[in-house]
Amino acid sequence: MNTPLSFLGIAGSLRRGSYNRAALRAAVHLVPPDVMLRTFDIGGLPLYNQDDESAPPPAVIELKRAIRAADAIVLASPEYNYSIPGVLKNAIDWASRPYGDSAWEGKPVALLGASVGAFGAIRAQYHLRQAFVFLNMHPVNQPEVAIANAAKVFTSDGSLEDETTRQRIAELLRALADLAHRLGAERARPPSASTPRHGVTVTG
Ligand code: FNR
Repeated sequence: MNTPLSFLGIAGSLRRGSYNRAALRAAVHLVPPDVMLRTFDIGGLPLYNQDDESAPPPAVIELKRAIRAADAIVLASPEYNYSIPGVLKNAIDWASRPYGDSAWEGKPVALLGASVGAFGAIRAQYHLRQAFVFLNMHPVNQPEVAIANAAKVFTSDGSLEDETTRQRIAELLRALADLAHRLGAERARPPSASTPRHGVTVTG
């Protein structure tokens, strides 16, 4: 039997009727049996200001604590203007600072997104994947969960009854649990050599 895991879910939309928040609510019930998914509301975070890094606001301390307590992260985000919504980028930036004290370090992460358009927020997901390189996070590559035409996939009260989408989310969460278990086992082994962790080495 696997060790129980704790996932932290964050939605990249603050909208009350948000399809992404609805997808995250659905995900809470689609986790594998040994996993608990809790959510964190990023609506209370102030705008990032580097001046406040050394004495961060309470909501930031709480966010970083929740991320650190989790074995893995689930991000459910819309796409705004082909990219990451500001509110989510703001949360990512806060929790990544100060330099050397990022709460995201080494965390496995799964992405899902819903859009009213035809591409299911996939472009924002690729921008998030780019940020994960510097954050040294470990994204699940497959399956990619891009929920297109969200207004048709979710009911008017925000429930997700579409069986294909539910299965896809369940598959993603299983893949995240597998990744978290694998990385946990790797961490438990003694390190073989130390390698530089941050930044790009440009040679030539
Ligand atoms: C959007 N939307 C959108 N959709 C998309 O597929 N690609 C995009 O680039 C954008 N850009 C965009 C910008 C802004 C500022 C808004 C408010 C919306 C539409 C978006 O998919 C739709 O509003 C979703 O319903 C947003 O997700 P939530 O709030 O339902 O989770």
